[in-house]
Amino acid sequence: MGTCKLVVVLVLLAQLSAFAYAQGSKTTPPAKSLWQTLDGGAPFIVAHGGFSGLFPDSSSFAYNFATITSVPDLILWCDVQLTKDGMGICFPDIKLDNSSDISRIYPKRDNTYNVNGVKMQGYFPIDFTLKELNKVSLTQGIYSRSPDFDASMLQIQTVDDVSQTQPAGIWLNVQHDAFYTQHNLSMRSFVISASNNAPISHISSPEVKFLQGLAKPFASTQIRLVFRFLDQDLAEPSTNQTYGSLLKNLTFIKTFASGILVPKAYIWPVDASGYLLPHTSLVADAHKIGLEVYAADFANDFTFAYNYSYNPVAEYLSFVDNGDFSVDGVVSDFPITPSEARDCFAHVGKNALGQAKPLVISHEGASGDYPGCTDMAYSKAISDGADVIDCPVQMSQDGVPFCLGSINLMNNTQIGQTQFRTLVQNVNELRPSQGIFSFSLNWADIQGLTPAIYNPWTASLLYRNPKFRNAGKIISLSDFLALAKNTTSLSAVSIKIENAQYLAAKQGLGIVDAVLDALDKAGYNDPSAKKVMIQSSSSSVLKSIKGKKYELVYEVDETIRDADKATITDIKGFADAVVIDKVSVFPKSGGYLVTMTDIVPHLQSFNLSVYVQIFQNEVVSLPFDFFSDPVVEINSYVMGPGVDGVITDFPETAASYKRNLCLKMTKAPPYMSAVQAGALMQQISGAMPPALAPSPVLTVADVSEPPLPPVMTANATAPAAAAPNKTSANGQPKVTASALLSSLIMIFAAVMMF
Ligand SMILES: *[C@@H]1O[C@H](CO)[C@@H](O)[C@H](O)[C@H]1NC(C)=O
Ligand SMILES: *[C@@H]1O[C@H](CO)[C@@H](O)[C@H](O)[C@H]1NC(C)=O
Ligand SMILES: *[C@@H]1O[C@H](CO)[C@@H](O)[C@H](O)[C@H]1NC(C)=O
Ligand SMILES: *[C@@H]1O[C@H](CO)[C@@H](O)[C@H](O)[C@H]1NC(C)=O
Ligand SMILES: *[C@@H]1O[C@H](CO)[C@@H](O)[C@H](O)[C@H]1NC(C)=O
Ligand SMILES: *[C@@H]1O[C@H](CO)[C@@H](O)[C@H](O)[C@H]1NC(C)=O
Ligand SMILES: *[C@@H]1O[C@H](CO)[C@@H](O)[C@H](O)[C@H]1NC(C)=O
Ligand SMILES: *[C@@H]1O[C@H](CO)[C@@H](O)[C@H](O)[C@H]1NC(C)=O
Ligand SMILES: *[C@@H]1O[C@H](CO)[C@@H](O)[C@H](O)[C@H]1NC(C)=O
Ligand SMILES: *[C@@H]1O[C@H](CO)[C@@H](O)[C@H](O)[C@H]1NC(C)=O
Repeated sequence: MGTCKLVVVLVLLAQLSAFAYAQGSKTTPPAKSLWQTLDGGAPFIVAHGGFSGLFPDSSSFAYNFATITSVPDLILWCDVQLTKDGMGICFPDIKLDNSSDISRIYPKRDNTYNVNGVKMQGYFPIDFTLKELNKVSLTQGIYSRSPDFDASMLQIQTVDDVSQTQPAGIWLNVQHDAFYTQHNLSMRSFVISASNNAPISHISSPEVKFLQGLAKPFASTQIRLVFRFLDQDLAEPSTNQTYGSLLKNLTFIKTFASGILVPKAYIWPVDASGYLLPHTSLVADAHKIGLEVYAADFANDFTFAYNYSYNPVAEYLSFVDNGDFSVDGVVSDFPITPSEARDCFAHVGKNALGQAKPLVISHEGASGDYPGCTDMAYSKAISDGADVIDCPVQMSQDGVPFCLGSINLMNNTQIGQTQFRTLVQNVNELRPSQGIFSFSLNWADIQGLTPAIYNPWTASLLYRNPKFRNAGKIISLSDFLALAKNTTSLSAVSIKIENAQYLAAKQGLGIVDAVLDALDKAGYNDPSAKKVMIQSSSSSVLKSIKGKKYELVYEVDETIRDADKATITDIKGFADAVVIDKVSVFPKSGGYLVTMTDIVPHLQSFNLSVYVQIFQNEVVSLPFDFFSDPVVEINSYVMGPGVDGVITDFPETAASYKRNLCLKMTKAPPYMSAVQAGALMQQISGAMPPALAPSPVLTVADVSEPPLPPVMTANATAPAAAAPNKTSANGQPKVTASALLSSLIMIFAAVMMF
């Protein structure tokens, strides 16, 4: 716990963030009266064991990193345990087994003790002196999180060590006073003496007797005593009443505490299917009798209610800015996220004017919430505040252009469970080559298909809005265009054209003409009409459209690190904008960002707009550098390379990002600054993720293509299978869902695959 080591750590961590931590440039929180907290002030943000979502809980890395990346008034949470020699250390559990390497350092020094009536075996702090514990290193105790910092030899911190970092406050949580008392160690004496030496702001405990004993000594101080509620069925050790019954007796709690700390579900309960129920009256009830309420158990990488669409900022806002109440503080493993939520996102109206960049372009509508390209996905994208909604165009056998994410109807519909399943065929020109393709069915039959939500993260057991997984209707391009035309909030529509060569040469379907025709009919060729973006990964498609008033967008369909000058000049000849993937901007390895390429500024220097795809909210889609926070990811693409647009499954997240108040500040606070790609990976001691071969540079050869072939006369190729009879209203034959993925891979494993 030498100061030297601490300083080194601080310097390293400071490098981690582009976050120049401007002293004194405190963000100006909104006027106090905005907050429906007990005292009208902004809610506290409490870093649970520091930034424990990323680094070992209660380590110097965790505490320092939390301080660097969060609000200036951040409170650091410490679970106090006492050593044999009565020293107070911060450690997340009464047993040292899971979050340290103690069993390796002191084999066989485990013991069995009775803790609140339960026999427990393991390594207890009361069996070790502080000096002995100095040889022990902290490790990641939550096995779904990255163990990459376990080799960093992070020592156990004392309460005194934590106060050396000069936090705005320290929250001491005393989970087990009764146990330490049995072993003649006094938590009471420890916290009283600590409060004289460290900036203790809160002391919490789930034990009534312990807090009652502190009420007097702390009566004339600013220190808040907080009663911690555990599971409602558990008995509180000193009163032998369940926490559930104590919850109905808040006036009793008020006799010895100034606040309560509750699991977040006490305030916003979640039903068995993972959806939020209406909030309880707990916060209002507690506030009425003058008790503060703190909510615990926030973590970006644990499942939270589907209502939040995997956006953790939305979850915090429902606790601090819901119109009915605000909790007085939140306890989080990822304190950067409540920092943003409180100081940048709260009290911003849905109609507040956002900044222009980046353009929020939906990906198959709000496909994170509803089956892609359905009427419901599009109306959600519009109400979410998307600037542009997109239609990837497919062609039916009878030549009707419609919107769907894939030419293969297996991907986005339940066609595999209908009589049309016999239309499976192999088409070598398409990727993947096997499927039931849109050109094998007439529009009337396609319209009748049941859409299916896109679930890219089932391997990590993350599902999208299951209640609505088959909701909505597939719509034609002309209906899409009519819908968008009527919607003034949209600045453009994006039409995507793929497989034009194959459709023309082999299916007699002219997709480019069908699109241009639909645009004409819908009045988009009118000079005053809404802007149209036409996107394709085929240069010949874009060349065939050049000269119209549409913005032409070239999609680079491989990961690149740059493009040479001749190639960009070539692209500039047929396109106004370019779509690249996220990894082309921030290459990654083993779940960490490696660097940032120059591709965005390079393309922009040729006056090409750069749109990046595909942004998703699910934690497994995010490199560790973005702290399991999809807003940090978007912000890093905007504040870092300065992308012109983001293509996203969750337009609400990107649209609310553009409205956040911190974008208007002259200097972005640390929690709203771009992360520095590569810095986090450099902090890993020991095995680094494998160095990957860099992505290629895009060349003229990659871009050039023969011109589009003429559309051959229809009916030259018959569908592979005879068209089956029309679907009857009911009684569609079902096949067993053999293709369902359900391998139980941990979230972390899924991240490592990318
Ligand atoms: C510690 O790890 C064991 C085995 O992996 C697990 O059963 C136990 O619940 C963990 N204990 C805590 C306190 O996390
Ligand atoms: C605690 O102290 C009492 C009295 O000094 C003694 O009888 C008891 O054995 C001690 N208990 C432990 C666990 O050391
Ligand atoms: C606590 O209450 C339970 C029943 O509610 C009872 O069985 C038990 O004996 C009580 N324990 C103590 C220590 O009073
Ligand atoms: C509240 O709890 C106290 C202490 O356990 C008890 O004396 C009192 O009767 C309880 N009041 C109610 C209304 O349950
Ligand atoms: C959460 O979503 C479900 C399903 O859409 C809805 O029924 C419920 O009312 C929502 N809960 C809240 C609190 O909005
Ligand atoms: C579409 O489905 C095929 C298998 O039918 C699969 O290989 C492919 O990855 C899917 N594409 C998407 C985007 O889900
Ligand atoms: C567009 O607006 C017009 C006039 O307000 C209305 O008649 C029409 O039904 C609307 N179309 C759509 C697709 O909403
Ligand atoms: C980009 O456009 C600006 C004005 O819109 C023009 O001044 C500049 O020369 C253009 N640069 C290139 C490289 O085309
Ligand atoms: C289909 O092809 C046959 C000859 O192979 C031709 O007689 C018929 O008119 C064609 N039908 C259409 C709709 O083009
Ligand atoms: C289609 O309908 C015809 C006549 O109604 C029937 O003979 C035939 O078996 C049906 N085919 C299929 C694939 O259901």
